[in-house]
Amino acid sequence: MSETDHLTHGSRIQVWDGPLRIFHWLLVLSIAVTFLSSEEDSPINQWHMISGWFAAILIAFRMTWGFVGGEYARFSGIFKGGGLGHHISETLRLRPTAPVGHNPFGWMSALLLIAVTAAVIWTGALIVTSAGETAEELHELIGWSLLALIAVHILAVVVMSALTRENLVRAMVSGTKPTERHPGARSARKPSLFAYLTAFVVVVAAMFGILKIDPQAFVPRSTESAEYSDSNMGDMQHDEDEEHEIERGE
Ligand code: HEM
Ligand code: HEM
Repeated sequence: MSETDHLTHGSRIQVWDGPLRIFHWLLVLSIAVTFLSSEEDSPINQWHMISGWFAAILIAFRMTWGFVGGEYARFSGIFKGGGLGHHISETLRLRPTAPVGHNPFGWMSALLLIAVTAAVIWTGALIVTSAGETAEELHELIGWSLLALIAVHILAVVVMSALTRENLVRAMVSGTKPTERHPGARSARKPSLFAYLTAFVVVVAAMFGILKIDPQAFVPRSTESAEYSDSNMGDMQHDEDEEHEIERGE
């Protein structure tokens, strides 16, 4: 073992900043709740829209953090660290290099997951604001596509961890990677105070924006009530309930 090996053994470099990790695991939690509550007969159906809107705040945060956040959280990283073609050929030979931040696949899945989550939220908002049938169908379709994408994402993380012999999940929890696997790399530059302030302003603005689109965004209510919502939402919900009672012969 050389002197440098001795020095680096066991030490870890900082890669993912705290807010990025919190974003990731809160997004996992909110999307899990949103899916589990999506069916009308789910016992937690009244949380579907709250957790969906919460995911929207997270997406607004991530979009901002991509410009002002910590070094490896920035979208400019997409253009660094080798091209996609090179990475694909390395992966096909089962020998992908492990960059400190996201590899090109990691960036692709990050952007795709963010974009598809934004699309499902958008169509959800359309159901609530305009009650269109097309919006409902699109929302379901994009929602289930997101689930498929998440399955691919998890599989990719497992496969890439095996091929690069790097525990990527541990890195997304602790924020660090072992120095010995990245000789010569230094810890990421930390996010500035300006980054935290900007992100805070964007998160607050996103909450106000959401409340403007959907004033009941953070009030528990069933998806069925929102489906038919318009300015007379209360009355229509009442009519709906009555219809169901008649159907049940009550
Ligand atoms: C609802 C489910 C999930 C969603 C929507 C999701 C979304 C994302 C996003 C957007 C990123 C990019 C991070 C960024 O730069 O912003 C990411 C990265 C990552 N996710 Fe997930 N994720 C999900 C579930 C999981 C699960 C269950 C695991 C653990 C098995 C996981 C492990 C990771 C890891 C390790 C990375 C970093 C990949 C890399 O090193 O390039 N994710 N995920
Ligand atoms: C991450 C975000 C979201 C995901 C993954 C998601 C997913 C889904 C899925 C899969 C369904 C279909 C359930 C079924 O099979 O019956 C659904 C229904 C619904 N969602 Fe979302 N949703 C999200 C966010 C939202 C938001 C933000 C809103 C409203 C503001 C919303 C409103 C609705 C409504 C009203 C329904 C019922 C529509 C119907 O029964 O056809 N969703 N959602």
